[in-house]
Amino acid sequence: MKIISGIEVSDKIKSDIALEVEAIKLRGGKVPHLAAVLVGNDGASQTYVNAKVKACEKVGFGSTLVELPATISETDLLNEIEKLNNNKEIDGFIVQLPLPKHINEQKVTEAISPLKDVDGFHPVSLGKMVLNLPSFLPATPYGIVEMLRHYNISTEGKHCVVIGRSNIVGSPMSILMARNTYPGNCTVTLTHSKTQNLAEITKQADILIVAIGKPEFLTANMVKEGATVIDVGIHRIEDATKKSGFRLIGDVKFDEVAPKCAFISPVPGGVGPMTIASLLKNTLLAVRRDA
Ligand code: GUN
Repeated sequence: MKIISGIEVSDKIKSDIALEVEAIKLRGGKVPHLAAVLVGNDGASQTYVNAKVKACEKVGFGSTLVELPATISETDLLNEIEKLNNNKEIDGFIVQLPLPKHINEQKVTEAISPLKDVDGFHPVSLGKMVLNLPSFLPATPYGIVEMLRHYNISTEGKHCVVIGRSNIVGSPMSILMARNTYPGNCTVTLTHSKTQNLAEITKQADILIVAIGKPEFLTANMVKEGATVIDVGIHRIEDATKKSGFRLIGDVKFDEVAPKCAFISPVPGGVGPMTIASLLKNTLLAVRRDA
């Protein structure tokens, strides 16, 4: 069994990006600049956005944090987005989700220029992905694809089972794994909460991508010997032995599933660190304006 280290892969991606930024600076090109819009003061969102801004600084990107009050009107937020769309210094930007209830998230997502949509959530970005055209891929599926690539995990002709059909993980993941490219060329089964006899299906999987959002949902009896398992879940559970009072677990019962696997991504240290690396890759792509 081999551990898929998201820390190792994301560090490699970030150091490659840092070298690329150096080269851009040397030739006097445009240094990539990411902006992040944070509405309100949700603790988790603040942590994520700060991590994104810090990652930009580490690779040499420019970064801007736009902090707006939770009381901002939808119209005012849409105006802020339009300013970022028109700001030539900013190559890409994200609006951190979730937004306050009085703001329509879909409307906001669609207001972002597809040329700057480094989260890859705009319908234009998702449509291009489906058509296998160059586009910004959503961070988590992009990160998983890069993990499979880094570990040379063979995918052609394999049965990939995805558990969960969310717009930002399960559904795009199923499309990427079926593409006629590497990683891809899988026979894909997309399963979800209404799937019958789930264990019968997951036991046939060569590659299992678990994004169901339920702690330790995938157990050893659901996994074939020699499978590759990617755990997208992240849950905080109380743990008095930890200084923080909690620890992180995934959607996979790691201790019993891991011994059966050829490869497995842990939580923490698996998919999580890859998402920021993907955002940075998309921002670099945005400078080239070819997405
Ligand atoms: N909230 C949780 N994950 C994400 C993400 O990837 N992008 C944005 N914009 N908001 C999020």
